[in-house]
Amino acid sequence: MVEPNLLHLPILEWYDSNARDLPWRAAEATPWGVLVSEIMLQQTPVARVLPVWHEWMDRWPTPKALAAEPSGEAVRHWGRLGYPRRALRLHACARAITDDHGGEVPADHATLLALPGIGEYTAAAVASFAYGGRHAVLDTNVRRVFARAVRAEEYPPTATSAAERRLAEALLPELGAARWGVAVMELGALVCTARGPRCADCPIAHTCAWRLAGKPPHAGPARKGQTYAGTDRQCRGRLLAVLRAAHGPVPKAALDTVWDDAVQRERALDGLIADGLAEHLDDGTYRLPGH
Ligand code: ADE
Repeated sequence: MVEPNLLHLPILEWYDSNARDLPWRAAEATPWGVLVSEIMLQQTPVARVLPVWHEWMDRWPTPKALAAEPSGEAVRHWGRLGYPRRALRLHACARAITDDHGGEVPADHATLLALPGIGEYTAAAVASFAYGGRHAVLDTNVRRVFARAVRAEEYPPTATSAAERRLAEALLPELGAARWGVAVMELGALVCTARGPRCADCPIAHTCAWRLAGKPPHAGPARKGQTYAGTDRQCRGRLLAVLRAAHGPVPKAALDTVWDDAVQRERALDGLIADGLAEHLDDGTYRLPGH
């Protein structure tokens, strides 16, 4: 196993001079701001998250402010970030934090994990980045850096394994674990990217197991990109855009115009309702959830 100290200093020094200046990393960012950023960033690039994150922080600077609104407002102001169930998860979190934790985002990993819609990754990220806790934060960027630098593999496995977790914990520095976590994440986002890693710019290229092994390509099935055009997900996005733009219930006819295939459209609409992203009222109209 690579000596952890050989990784710590070069990566932390690289981070000092290369980190992006992102508002959820600023000293004045609140734990709530960190939590909102982590949920938004899970499936969406930084550039698209930034304006929506600012809008949320202006509108709902605390969990209590969001908890006071119906869940549909969280969906409305999710904009075009995609995967809008995340807006409902944040809303449910805001209510639980307000009702059960005095309006303060918990600092403790286990307490965070018990909040609605918070998984292992988000609990570790908030405990670490907002409160300085010592946790292995294993997002896809971090997992890729460790896969290459230590395991000599181009990509990590599909799902996070116990071996990856043990490795990440073994690599945690005694002090400054939170800064280490975000530094490795940034290295994965900016240099050790999924396609086209820039090894010439990498501070640990000289010890990277994958590079030293001659960069063997990933064995197994090709990693598939996600197609969007024509999918139920795109159809749901169009329907939801109509509901978001309307300030009140909309008739079915307004939804029918945004997607030609009626079978797919009905399926997508049923899906939105089943997921709690839309409501079907007794008079036959539709709207964002009002509770
Ligand atoms: N900084 C802290 N967490 C981050 C994330 N998930 N993506 C990008 N930058 C971050």
